[in-house]
Amino acid sequence: MKRSIIITGGAGFIGSHVVRLFVNKYPEYKIINLDKLTYAGNLANLKDIEDKPNYKFVKMDICDFEGVLKLMQEEHVDGIIHLAAESHVDRSIKDPFTFAQTNVMGTLSLLQAAKACWEGNYEGKRFYHISTDEVYGALEMTHPEGIEPPFTTKASSGEHHLAYGEKFFTEDLKYQPHSPYSAAKASSDHFVRAFHDTFGLPTIVTNCSNNYGPYQFPEKLIPLFINNIRHRKPLPVYGKGENVRDWLYVEDHARAIDTIFHNGKIAETYNIGGFNEWKNIDIIKVLIHTTDRLLGRKEGEDMDLITYVTDRAGHDLRYAIDSSKLKRELGWEPSLQFEEGIEKTVRWYLDNQDWLDNVTSGDYQKYYENMYKGR
Ligand code: NAD
Ligand code: DAU
Repeated sequence: MKRSIIITGGAGFIGSHVVRLFVNKYPEYKIINLDKLTYAGNLANLKDIEDKPNYKFVKMDICDFEGVLKLMQEEHVDGIIHLAAESHVDRSIKDPFTFAQTNVMGTLSLLQAAKACWEGNYEGKRFYHISTDEVYGALEMTHPEGIEPPFTTKASSGEHHLAYGEKFFTEDLKYQPHSPYSAAKASSDHFVRAFHDTFGLPTIVTNCSNNYGPYQFPEKLIPLFINNIRHRKPLPVYGKGENVRDWLYVEDHARAIDTIFHNGKIAETYNIGGFNEWKNIDIIKVLIHTTDRLLGRKEGEDMDLITYVTDRAGHDLRYAIDSSKLKRELGWEPSLQFEEGIEKTVRWYLDNQDWLDNVTSGDYQKYYENMYKGR
């Protein structure tokens, strides 16, 4: 095998897309999916590639330093793409300890293992840490009606592409996390950079905006709302629904990770985003229209499911990523128009009701046990 790469969190939403891309695109690489299979990990996300000869799944906690080090040595690992994390902001408000343990201590354990395994020979090695735009805090909404954005990309030139302020998150901004989730991610980013600066570990960090697409756990806005519209359940909109997020189709994120893993500069940070800002309430209306249409209902008839509820504590007002460095230096830009991405996404969840039912019933957690029975 030309390379041996551990992808952590490969059974989760974004991780499964990254694993699939690498397994299919690089048959000459060995791809090891290291995942603890928490509630968010689901091996059914990878059914289509699980029998490929260049793919291996290892059930392991990233906090298990000895286990990770042994695996790295046995498999001659020369690259780590680190996505494993606790990722849901609402859960971090209820249970911050788990977020510190996984996101901070888990990342530290991986860094120590990589340092111990590679020490003295960093040539060709790479520790790539996947982070979030939430570490930068929140931007002001200086233009609630929206203004023409300063940048466009292939995927953002649609009619809805407006910016809600002049400021964007750039790579040189100071970190100002607000939620326990983003505080834990920020801390892990600092550890990664510290391991480069102190020990010379060849690291890269990227900070990405909100992803959407197939296989996202239905606690997050888009899959939760599609499922609720289908079952005519209330749609809990936090606060006034005015908060703004910058949405990127998950396969575009996976492509960016591929580009950066192979061509990014060591010790650099790259922001990844869609230049695609939406107020939550506007996205929700698009979801209702699209889901109703695809279900053969009258478009918009489920608008009365919208239910305004108490706001999320510390709810960040606006995220907007400036990903022009990545476009300029490595030539990446998002490929999908948002309208196209949302249509594909809603269609996928409606066509994969079994997947959603398994996840919402908890049955997906038996998949691993059944899969490994008799092996
Ligand atoms: P997810 O919650 O869908 O998946 C997380 C995966 O990590 C799961 O498979 C889970 O089993 C695994 N995991 C959790 N704790 C673990 C541990 N201790 N050891 C090993 N595996 C463990 O997350 P996601 O939405 O796919 O996010 C992946 C990464 O991308 C995270 O680091 C997240 O911070 C970052 N990110 C996510 C988004 C987004 O919009 N979802 C945007 C930017 C960055
Ligand atoms: O910005 C990147 C981040 O995007 C990632 O780092 C996180 O891992 C990922 O979960 C996501 O965080 P958000 O908090 O932005 O995503 P979420 O889907 O939970 O919420 C999106 C917006 O919708 C947010 O403003 C809160 C709001 N919301 C969410 C839910 C679940 C609601 O109004 N109602 C809801 O029920």
